[in-house]
Amino acid sequence: MHDTLLLFGATGDLAQRYLFPSLIHLWRDRLLPEGFRLVAVGRQEMSSEAFRSWLRERMAAEAADDAAAVDGLLRSIDYVAVDLRDTAAIAAALSPYADRPSVSYLATPPDLFVPVAQGLSAAGVLADPSRLVLEKPIGRDLASAREINAALRACLDESRIFRIDHYLGKAAVQNLLALRLGNTLLEAVWQHRWIESVDILVAETAGVDGREEYYAGYGALRDMVQNHMLQLLALIAMEPPSNLDADSIREEKRKVLRALRPMGQADAAQDTVRGRYGAGVVEGRAVKGFVHDAPVETFVALRTWIDNWRWAGVPFRLVTGKRLAARATEVVVSFKPVSHWLFERPARGRERPNRLRMRLQPDETVELGLMGSLAAPEWGALELRPMSLDLSMSNSPQRRIAYERLLVDALRGNQTLFVRDDEVESAWQWIDSVERAWSATAQPVIEYPAGSWGPAEAAAFLPATLGQSRGGQA
Ligand code: BG6
Repeated sequence: MHDTLLLFGATGDLAQRYLFPSLIHLWRDRLLPEGFRLVAVGRQEMSSEAFRSWLRERMAAEAADDAAAVDGLLRSIDYVAVDLRDTAAIAAALSPYADRPSVSYLATPPDLFVPVAQGLSAAGVLADPSRLVLEKPIGRDLASAREINAALRACLDESRIFRIDHYLGKAAVQNLLALRLGNTLLEAVWQHRWIESVDILVAETAGVDGREEYYAGYGALRDMVQNHMLQLLALIAMEPPSNLDADSIREEKRKVLRALRPMGQADAAQDTVRGRYGAGVVEGRAVKGFVHDAPVETFVALRTWIDNWRWAGVPFRLVTGKRLAARATEVVVSFKPVSHWLFERPARGRERPNRLRMRLQPDETVELGLMGSLAAPEWGALELRPMSLDLSMSNSPQRRIAYERLLVDALRGNQTLFVRDDEVESAWQWIDSVERAWSATAQPVIEYPAGSWGPAEAAAFLPATLGQSRGGQA
């Protein structure tokens, strides 16, 4: 396990919201290596002492729970100020840290990935076996992602590059794999013969909040679909790997991403909806709409197909949006009707299809919808009703921030939950087809009121189970 973490973007939003709290928890639970040291790198000039007191103030909530862990972590931190666009300055400032293997974590905007990596490389900080961790997004289309990947490969080998998609660090996402591949019952029917459709929903109540400029350049398609949603889709749809090695899983995911049917211009109107939230009420609070000149979406609904043997003809519907009615991340697999219906009630076609609903956020539940007749019938006709088997996992012992797991894996060198260069590129290739179709057909961005489920045009894309969501309103 490497014991030195160089954190670039240490005064940024991601570091404050997730990375430092995660490190504090890891310190508390003794999951960081012996002799751990953290080099915080930022643009602002300040001494290590000043950085530590700045961070202490921001970690007040963590300190209330565990003051000893905050003190411990703060003692391990040095601060280095450097202009992250200046490769030569980075090389000079960071060369003292080339003395032992380290993990450099770039929690910075993507345009800084290459200059920082080149500076580190010149300083000798990326020499084997040191590693580099990158946040998303890797570029904003296939061409820019390729450029970044090629420039990084000139600095270090792919086996030492760790691209983060924090959804892969969520225990509930790993549980998707466990459920699917650990149960004969599911794997046996996991294909087009038995499955009618698959829904993936990532609904947020949060807005763009302070990230207007970033969002104006990316939109929901690039911010959420290219990475989190396509990773979920790939885990659901991939062939079972022969083992859990990083490359076995990543290879299977990549094959799925390559098999996504490119969005044709003729299909864009019926298979996609773009929306942007206007003013409204979310969770009882009045909120403003997202206003920007860029014609960019905060909501996207898509229907897509995976052109391979297993998934022929099965629609995958992906929906994500900000400022929606409830926070909910879920995957719903709907099965085909039984081949011959014997019962009078409900009549053929009125039965509810078997559904496996895996809810990942905010609570973790697995629900299997079946038809049955538990209330013992009298002498009349057998009457079937929808029933559900529920499994709630919210009582699991400890819920960790996704980044905790990813930080430990990066320090240990386990790439399983990180995204490989060709996966990122295949995902962009498909996203580019959607962007091209949108611009060729001037696909409108439809306004929806904050607190709704998006534009009315997207109703048919939403999972049928939505009305049954705990916090949800259909
Ligand atoms: C980030 C996106 O990657 O994921 C944000 O940039 C989004 O726009 C966030 O809000 C959602 O993550 P989570 O873990 O809250 O579902």
